[in-house]
Parts: sequence; structure tokens; C-alpha cells
Amino acid sequence: MSCFWIHSILIPGFFVLFGFEGFPVISVDSQRSTDNITIRQGDTAVIRCYVDDKVSKVAWLNRSNIIFAGEDKWSLDPRVELVTQGQLEYSLRIQKVDVFDEGPYTCSIQTKQQPKTSQVYLIVQVPPVIYKVSDDITVNEGSNVTLTEEPSNALTWILSASEALDVGEYLEISGIVRSQAGRYECKASNDVSTPDVKYVNVVVNYPPYIKEVRSSETPVGQAGVLHCEASAVPQPEFEWYRDERRLSSSQSVSIQISGSRTLLVVANVTEDDYGNYTCVATNRLGIHNASVFLYKRNHLEKWFISLCFPIIP
Ligand SMILES: *[C@@H]1O[C@H](CO)[C@@H](O)[C@H](O)[C@H]1NC(C)=O
Ligand SMILES: *[C@@H]1O[C@H](CO)[C@@H](O)[C@H](O)[C@H]1NC(C)=O
Ligand SMILES: *[C@@H]1O[C@H](CO)[C@@H](O)[C@H](O)[C@H]1NC(C)=O
Ligand SMILES: *[C@@H]1O[C@H](CO)[C@@H](O)[C@H](O)[C@H]1NC(C)=O
Ligand SMILES: *[C@@H]1O[C@H](CO)[C@@H](O)[C@H](O)[C@H]1NC(C)=O
Ligand SMILES: *[C@@H]1O[C@H](CO)[C@@H](O)[C@H](O)[C@H]1NC(C)=O
Repeated sequence: MSCFWIHSILIPGFFVLFGFEGFPVISVDSQRSTDNITIRQGDTAVIRCYVDDKVSKVAWLNRSNIIFAGEDKWSLDPRVELVTQGQLEYSLRIQKVDVFDEGPYTCSIQTKQQPKTSQVYLIVQVPPVIYKVSDDITVNEGSNVTLTEEPSNALTWILSASEALDVGEYLEISGIVRSQAGRYECKASNDVSTPDVKYVNVVVNYPPYIKEVRSSETPVGQAGVLHCEASAVPQPEFEWYRDERRLSSSQSVSIQISGSRTLLVVANVTEDDYGNYTCVATNRLGIHNASVFLYKRNHLEKWFISLCFPIIP
């Protein structure tokens, strides 16, 4: 009498049926320890059992529960069925294998002399999956931030797809700074299949900082342009002041704002326009200002130029 175990895997969509070669073939008679069958979650497992005609009774067990007693199905699970061929094959097929199917399966055989059993331990491999990650968040600079995810297994957090930051279900950033804003990538990987990746966008608010101003040297009668550029999240609101007086767009000056830059354009510069202007950037986290100057054309420079290039009458 003999009974053999092999297993085959049906990969969904491909329907590849592995042959006998390379898979465990176990005789019921042998005293070997339990063999392991490894299968991917969602695939179909076929746990084979071959019997000969001297066998009187057969049964399949999942742990200690009877799934089939002969042809009688005891299990209520619709995914489970027998694969029989004449009286020689008594294999078990489990469709859409899931993690809870992991465990020992026993093909139990009653011959006239004595009962025999053979056991296979089904190992279910789970492809890397990230079930859930933190929502995109907006925080103020200095906040403590914790990003979380629920993976099925190993994972890595990566900042803006550059460097690996941490491994685990949490990424804690205490006292976040503006340079840490960006897209965080959570990657779960194992050797079962390709990594699963999810992203969390982190916006870090901070008060305005005027990083660049450009004063202007403009002769009377021409257009003078003063530049001011700030860095801020959320984007700043701008105001321009002439000494203590707030300016608004009029016939003589126009204020142009584009994102984090602003221009003050004095359409036709007069003597009165020369002097000190202030660019003020504001958002709900703070305020910053800087002085910008509208200069009269430098006389020294004019003199220097005319010295070098004497104007020939
Ligand atoms: C089956 O797997 C278990 C745990 O993964 C391991 O300890 C055991 O050695 C394996 N048995 C065989 C026969 O490969
Ligand atoms: C095997 O037994 C476990 C635990 O009782 C159960 O959750 C699982 O659905 C069973 N699987 C099959 C294929 O019978
Ligand atoms: C951030 O965490 C540190 C300790 O890690 C704590 O001292 C600090 O008070 C926390 N800050 C905020 C804003 O919760
Ligand atoms: C600038 O102002 C002067 C004096 O008011 C005027 O003569 C001149 O035409 C103006 N120039 C322009 C381009 O508007
Ligand atoms: C320009 O004006 C600002 C604000 O009124 C003032 O703080 C600053 O001292 C002034 N700078 C000069 C050079 O006058
Ligand atoms: C510019 O900032 C200084 C210091 O914070 C403040 O004293 C001044 O009033 C500000 N000027 C304007 C025009 O907001």
C-alpha cells in the first residue's frame, strides 16, 4: 500500500500547474516528519494523496477537524473540494487560500490492517500589502508628527523617495522643520512578490521669511521696479509701505503679487519717489518685513562713466 503527497500551485491568471518534480513526495509508510507546503495567499492549493485499492476508508482533516470522510463533505467551506481519479487519488483542493488556512492537513487512511496518516503543513505566504497609511497632513513647524501604517509585513519609510528613514509601523518626527516637508513613501516588501508602496504628503507651515529684496536705481521719468521675495507656508500676503504709509495700486504705483514674490512698480519716477520702502509678508503664523530702496541714479557713477567715455560734442 502506498500514498504520495505532492502539491501544485495554480497561479491565478496563468494556471500553471507544477509537475511532480521538485515537490515533496511522501509515503505514508515512512516515519518522516511533517513536510511543509508553501503557497501564496489567494492561490489554489492542491494537497495530493494517492491510495491503492486495498484501502477501505479515507478521510481528510484540517488540524483535528474532519473535512471529508470518504466522499462525504463535513466541512461547510465552499472553497474545499476533493480531487479524485478512480479510486487511486484522494487529493484535497483549497481555493483562494488565506492565512487562516495555514496549519496541518492530514490524509488519514484505514486499511484492513492498521490506520495510516500523513500530514502536510500548509504555509501561506502573504504578499506585501499596506492596508492603510496616515492621511496627508498639514502641521506647523515644530510639531511632533507620527506617520502610521498597517502592513502585512516588513516595510520601510522613505523620505521623498531618497533615503530610508525608519523601519516599523510608525515614523516619528519630533519638532518637524520645513526641510522635512514632502512626500513620504511607505514601502512594504518581502520575497513573496513586488513591494507595495503608499504615500503620505506632509505639509509644514512656517512663518514668512523675506529671503531676497532688490532695490532699484532709476532716473526721473522712468519706471522703477522694487522686488521682494519671501518664503512661507501657507503662501504669504504682501503689503508695501512708503515709510509708515501703506501703498495701494494707483495710477502712479502698481503692486504685483505672484505666489511668493511681489513687485512694486513706480510707473514714472519723480524726485518725491526716492527713498525707503518696506515689503511686509504675512501669513497666519507670522510676519516679516524688509527695507527696499528706490535710489536716484548714482552721480558718482555718471561722472565715472563720462570720465572714461568722454562725450564728444
Ligand atoms: C516546516 O516549517 C517549520 C517552520 O517554518 C520548520 O521549523 C520545519 O523545519 C519545516 N519542516 C520541513 C520538513 O521543512
Ligand atoms: C482550517 O481550520 C482553520 C481553523 O479552524 C479554519 O479557519 C480554516 O478555514 C480551515 N481551512 C480549511 C481549508 O478547511
Ligand atoms: C514633542 O515631543 C517632545 C518629546 O519627544 C516633547 O518634549 C514636546 O513637548 C513635544 N512637543 C509637542 C508640541 O507636543
Ligand atoms: C512722466 O512724468 C513727466 C512729468 O509729469 C511727464 O512729462 C512724462 O510724459 C511722463 N512719462 C511717462 C512715460 O508717462
Ligand atoms: C526704512 O524704513 C524702515 C521702516 O519704516 C525703518 O525701520 C528703517 O530703519 C528705514 N531704513 C533706512 C535706511 O532709513
Ligand atoms: C518691520 O518690522 C519691525 C520689527 O519687527 C517693526 O518694528 C516695524 O514696525 C515693521 N515695519 C512695518 C512697516 O511693518
